Amino acid sequence: MKKCMIIGCGGVASVAIHKCCQNSEVFEGIMIASRTKSKCDALKEKLQPTTKTVIETAQVNADNIDELITLINSYQPDVVLNLALPYQDLTIMDACLATKTHYVDTANYEPLDTAKFEYKWQWAYRERFEKAGITALLGSGFDPGVTGVFSAYAMKHEFDEINYIDILDCNGGDHGYPFATNFNPEINIREVSAKGSYIENGEWVETEPMEIKRVYNFKGVGEKDMYLLHHEELESLALNIKGIKRIRFFMTFGQSYLTHLKCLENVGMTSIEPIMYEGKEIVPLQFLKAVLPDPATLGARTVGKTNIGCIFRGKKDGKDKTYYLYNICDHQECYKEVGSQAISYTTGVPAMIGAMMIMTGTWNKAGVYNIEEFDPDPFMQALNKYGLPWEEDFNPVLVD
Ligand SMILES: NC(=O)c1ccc[n+]([C@@H]2O[C@H](COP(=O)([O-])OP(=O)(O)OC[C@H]3O[C@@H](n4cnc5c(N)ncnc54)[C@H](OP(=O)(O)O)[C@@H]3O)[C@@H](O)[C@H]2O)c1
Repeated sequence: MKKCMIIGCGGVASVAIHKCCQNSEVFEGIMIASRTKSKCDALKEKLQPTTKTVIETAQVNADNIDELITLINSYQPDVVLNLALPYQDLTIMDACLATKTHYVDTANYEPLDTAKFEYKWQWAYRERFEKAGITALLGSGFDPGVTGVFSAYAMKHEFDEINYIDILDCNGGDHGYPFATNFNPEINIREVSAKGSYIENGEWVETEPMEIKRVYNFKGVGEKDMYLLHHEELESLALNIKGIKRIRFFMTFGQSYLTHLKCLENVGMTSIEPIMYEGKEIVPLQFLKAVLPDPATLGARTVGKTNIGCIFRGKKDGKDKTYYLYNICDHQECYKEVGSQAISYTTGVPAMIGAMMIMTGTWNKAGVYNIEEFDPDPFMQALNKYGLPWEEDFNPVLVD
């Protein structure tokens, strides 16, 4: 029996679990293992009557390697799909190594006390995974994830060399709250309040947070302000895609979100430095997370669409070429299908597909790899099949 262990049971995991259950031929068994077991049990109760996939649940603290090893040994999954938080990446990779089990995640490791995301900690496992004969597939969400698959696909089919990539992440959804984040608030705010950066001629260029703003007219959404952010896939794509001169990442934000964020920053609520409060140490950002709406509850009230994709510029047969690959996803359609908004959906679907690529042996090489290092074609087909169809534009408006 082919089995997958999913760690975490939040917004993204819920979508991935729904999608595994729609795909019982590959996912014959899944175990949902998370910190709060009641969430896993509730999902099992909802989904088991609808699917042939045999669902089991367990409580696990994914910060504890021994607990993870015991659980993996008892369930014996073919792959562990890590949909907990980036802080747990290394402990879960350690447990996969100890049990010789394949590993898939959607976000790179971040130490809890430093808001700095980069691949060096996970790339350091390359030799050990190779020797153990197992695969770690890093970054199988949308961005990172589909953006890497799009890049590999563009490289394989459309270009001899790609010189410029602009990744554009537009969320045109409206949840009606003055301020809420679409995925884990702590991770999201750490990401958007960090300095921006992009890679030019092999060097990182740093900007102040939200310093670089552009306006872009997104198909299916309309005109939106977008801001240059640091994003983890820039680091791996700059190495893995041939000919890169510059790679940037932009995300759209509405004025209300930015005004609230600035205010929260100014009063210290986004800080990750612990403070003492009534004799107890608390982290302001973690406290803020506790009072903000849970992203998993936004689905019912979010309307509008997302449009996420990559604009490529490079050369084909000696001629300049531009190419835009993107996906448009509708928040309400996602909610009707799996009870979640589109941000969780656009991450959970590629997470399931990444696990499927490994479980079926379609992607089969030992070591630690970023997603663009695999053949993109079967993944691209699966995106169309499992709810994230992609569109192409051979004459896109460029970002200056
Ligand atoms: N690549 C992409 O496109 C992309 C986009 C969005 C998100 N992401 C990533 O997806 C991941 C999940 O995001 P999300 O929005 O689903 O977050 P979430 O709703 O907060 O869910 C996280 C889940 O992990 C569980 N968890 C946390 N710490 C744990 C621990 N020590 N042991 C066991 N379980 C633990 C939580 O348990 P509780 O239920 O007890 O809190 C929760 O169920 C994050 O890593 C995020 O960065 C990637």
